[in-house]
Amino acid sequence: MSHQGNTWEKEYRNPLFVTKNDGPQADTLRFLKFLKKEQKYKIEDKNILDLGCGTGRNSNYLAERSNNVIGIEISKTAIDLAKTRAKNLGVVVDYKMGDIGNNYEIENNSIDLVLDVTSSNSLDEAGRDIYLNEVNRVLKNGGYFFVRALAKDGNKNVKNLLKISPGKEYDTYIIKEIGLTERVFSREDFIKTYNKYFKILKLEKKTSYTTFNNRIYKRDYWLAYLQK
Ligand SMILES: C[S@@+](CC[C@H](N)C(=O)[O-])C[C@H]1O[C@@H](n2cnc3c(N)ncnc32)[C@H](O)[C@@H]1O
Repeated sequence: MSHQGNTWEKEYRNPLFVTKNDGPQADTLRFLKFLKKEQKYKIEDKNILDLGCGTGRNSNYLAERSNNVIGIEISKTAIDLAKTRAKNLGVVVDYKMGDIGNNYEIENNSIDLVLDVTSSNSLDEAGRDIYLNEVNRVLKNGGYFFVRALAKDGNKNVKNLLKISPGKEYDTYIIKEIGLTERVFSREDFIKTYNKYFKILKLEKKTSYTTFNNRIYKRDYWLAYLQK
């Protein structure tokens, strides 16, 4: 497994910041509401791909609404928990252990909706290229893509990390306590990365606070509603 994969596995075994919440993620719910209200799009009986699905909070929620869900996740501990929760809920999700920076075993133009809820930030540039190509390949024309990704703009903590703990690639830093490399995006950079393949229906920045090692950190995220 890749270094980043091992880091995530360690994190799930002994969590410092990752959430094991099993309710659906709030920004994801807002995106689903947007589809329903503003796009008049029904979130039932769809084929959904959840990238870096973690412990399955979004996958299981969507499967409960009669969708066919595939979840790809690199951590065995996380995916085992996702499977147990799905079983307890009585839903079926196709959980696959895998790397979202490698080719997906999924047919062309077969997916209606792709979710990347804070998962692709830990890909390197080569992995990111594959991820973008693969999402584009598996999504149907007109299919939707929700991305929640770390934002660089206006965040002092990010600015500081880029300076004192830079990673090897552009706009990356290493969280030393856990050995995880994260990629952050300026607005311009985010748009350039995604509009090569997808139409940007909406892009907004949102601040959240997270506890890490008993300290509270401000994290900024891009919430992007995209369409192929
Ligand atoms: C911040 S967590 C978010 C989990 C989930 N999307 C959620 O909203 O609860 C990021 C997830 O992406 C997974 N991940 C990171 N890199 C990955 C990769 N290259 N392939 C598959 N999963 C990956 C991590 O193991 C972790 O579960």
